Amino acid sequence: MPVLNKYVALTRKDMQNVLVIGATGQIGSELTLELRKRYGGGHVVAGYIPGAEPKGALKDSGPLGIADVTEGDTIARIVKDYKVDTIYNLAALLSVVAESKPALAWKIGIDGLWNVLEVARTYGCAVFTPSSIGSFGAGTPHVHTPQDTIQRPCTIYGVTKVTTELLSDYYHAKYGVDTRSVRFPGLISYQTLPGGGTTDYAVDIYYAAVRGEKFVSPLRAGTYMDMMYMPDALNAAIQLMEADPSRLKHRNAFNIASMSFDPEEIYRAIKKRVPGFEMGYEVDPLKQAIADSWPDCMDDSCAREEWGWKPQYDLESMTEDMLEKLRVKLSQ
Ligand code: SER
Repeated sequence: MPVLNKYVALTRKDMQNVLVIGATGQIGSELTLELRKRYGGGHVVAGYIPGAEPKGALKDSGPLGIADVTEGDTIARIVKDYKVDTIYNLAALLSVVAESKPALAWKIGIDGLWNVLEVARTYGCAVFTPSSIGSFGAGTPHVHTPQDTIQRPCTIYGVTKVTTELLSDYYHAKYGVDTRSVRFPGLISYQTLPGGGTTDYAVDIYYAAVRGEKFVSPLRAGTYMDMMYMPDALNAAIQLMEADPSRLKHRNAFNIASMSFDPEEIYRAIKKRVPGFEMGYEVDPLKQAIADSWPDCMDDSCAREEWGWKPQYDLESMTEDMLEKLRVKLSQ
């Protein structure tokens, strides 16, 4: 199918104005500030939904606007007003909460994506919409999961992520919309908490350690999943959107990886630094079933070759930083 759109020729150094949809969420709250640091506060609009208004630095460091993916007009208005050329569309429900609200997960993840892509097509914006390790399923090779492989997820979260990849590729092929994406591992940060994901335990465990509490793991020992420290995740998103498009053979979505561990390994990394820390197990069947269907570790060689992906943090350096930052945060 011919690509007709002129915007495909833009390189990301032409990027002037950015909209982050979901700017108060797990990724958005940090990505918005990082983008403002790099491009200047006035060039990055924090898009939020009523009830999740930006506060503090997020509110004070740049423009804000209501950006509800289920109301395409709200996105179009910001894109027009601020001459936005790049949209980070971070609106989504995480895997566990999505299982209890499948219709809402679809409405936000896919109907919402459709609205964002239509705005992007009309106004010539590039679009980043995250995919996830959740886009894979039980039939996927679990070790060194290839870039191009079987994607038959068993969760509604995964169904929306595979659809996100397909729809984003379709808009690129049919309309030349500059869509790009990564498959994020479980993301770990000391700032905004995740909410309702399968990988959340790897954040919660640090809070328990710093608070001096025993941690109860909802996943069995031996349950390996890809995980990533937030600074690497932010770099991945920005670096991919700035990458030279002529080098990209893939678009939606690149495997990216930095570390893979099970509850025992993260526990040991923490216990080395917090000797009295204890962990027990109380397996949550839903979380366990979801985790068992996801890869143990992905092969990210395409991201490394096509746009120079290279993570900075491993389990040890992340644990060092998480404990240090959380001690400060929780003592305030
Ligand atoms: N962190 C997500 C979840 O657990 C996976 O991408 O749902």
